[in-house]
Amino acid sequence: MERPKAILGIETSCDETAAAVVTSDGRVLSNVLDSQASVHARFGGVVPELAARRHLERIEDLVDMAMRQADCTWVDLAAIAVTQGPGLAGALLVGLNFGKALAYASGVPLIAVNHLKGHLASAWLAHPDFPRPALMFVVSGGHTHLYYSEKPGQYDLLGKTVDDAAGEAFDKGAKMLGLGYPGGPALDRLARTGSPTAVHFPRPFLKRTGLEFSFSGLKTALLYYLRKWDGTAPPVADIAASYQEAIVDVLVQKAFRAVQSYPIKGLAVVGGVAANSRLRARLAERAAQEDLCLVIPPLHFCTDNAAMIAAAGWEEFRLGRSASWDMDVVPNWTTFEPAQDEERSSAVLC
Ligand code: KG4
Ligand code: ZN
Repeated sequence: MERPKAILGIETSCDETAAAVVTSDGRVLSNVLDSQASVHARFGGVVPELAARRHLERIEDLVDMAMRQADCTWVDLAAIAVTQGPGLAGALLVGLNFGKALAYASGVPLIAVNHLKGHLASAWLAHPDFPRPALMFVVSGGHTHLYYSEKPGQYDLLGKTVDDAAGEAFDKGAKMLGLGYPGGPALDRLARTGSPTAVHFPRPFLKRTGLEFSFSGLKTALLYYLRKWDGTAPPVADIAASYQEAIVDVLVQKAFRAVQSYPIKGLAVVGGVAANSRLRARLAERAAQEDLCLVIPPLHFCTDNAAMIAAAGWEEFRLGRSASWDMDVVPNWTTFEPAQDEERSSAVLC
């Protein structure tokens, strides 16, 4: 039996060097990743030059590993999909040029992928029959974007953050609480031992109509709270849990406000913050009450990975889109207009 064609995905937009091979029917044949967390930890955040250098050192091995684990050769590939943006320019350049050179040398078509579309496509990896129309919510380190999607690859923006993204609120809050980098997962772990009602933090933009978000005021509220805090009572775990609850409350309530306003069959929540245990639990509870199909990918498809880039590559491929040899990185690419012309405990409740 002939095996289905596959797409090799390459992701280097930030601090993860990643490569993956995904077949046309959504099977992930390989998904490898080199996290740079230890490289950047002592600086308290990602250092762009160090990220680019590390990508350069690791990219060849990771692509080789992904192809070998998938037992693939170039003739098995329908395309090579690379992240074109948004992200750090130097980091993006490494993956994009590596993918371009591979595609040119092997005669395989090249596809440019928007990183956000990668996160959105992770819903397909978690649940290939994810129903549409759907609401799709990207909650990551750089984005809090809510979309309406009629079909795979087609996304209409309904609302987004006007300042910080939800992931930034987690990371900056974690830093203020002395939890180090990367902060989101550390805050999540600590919050599990605290009380979410110990401290009242504001729920920004919740009283406003519309689907915009804002998290910078919440961060300031934590800063002012910590200035007056005596360092012992309430325990830091209670402050973490209460701060997290404010972020989660806003995300859940706004997402379900949108659910009530659009004729949709499913809700997908994707991106790094979708790995948050409290957010996952609250979304699942609410979806069960409303009998809604909810998809939250397993943790390794929520945070940055290359399987999601290959998956988005398939969406672009099916829409007949490919990239030209002169395409360049687009670090601030947040709309879904074609740029070159100018994350197995999957929560699936269906
Ligand atoms: O999607 P992602 O890996 O990269 C971007 O595209 O931004 O998201 C990274 C963000 C970071 O802000 C990180 O702290 C957050 O996702 N994150 C979490 C958790 N795991 C990752 N935030 C809260 N709880 C988590 N468990
Ligand atoms: Zn991401």
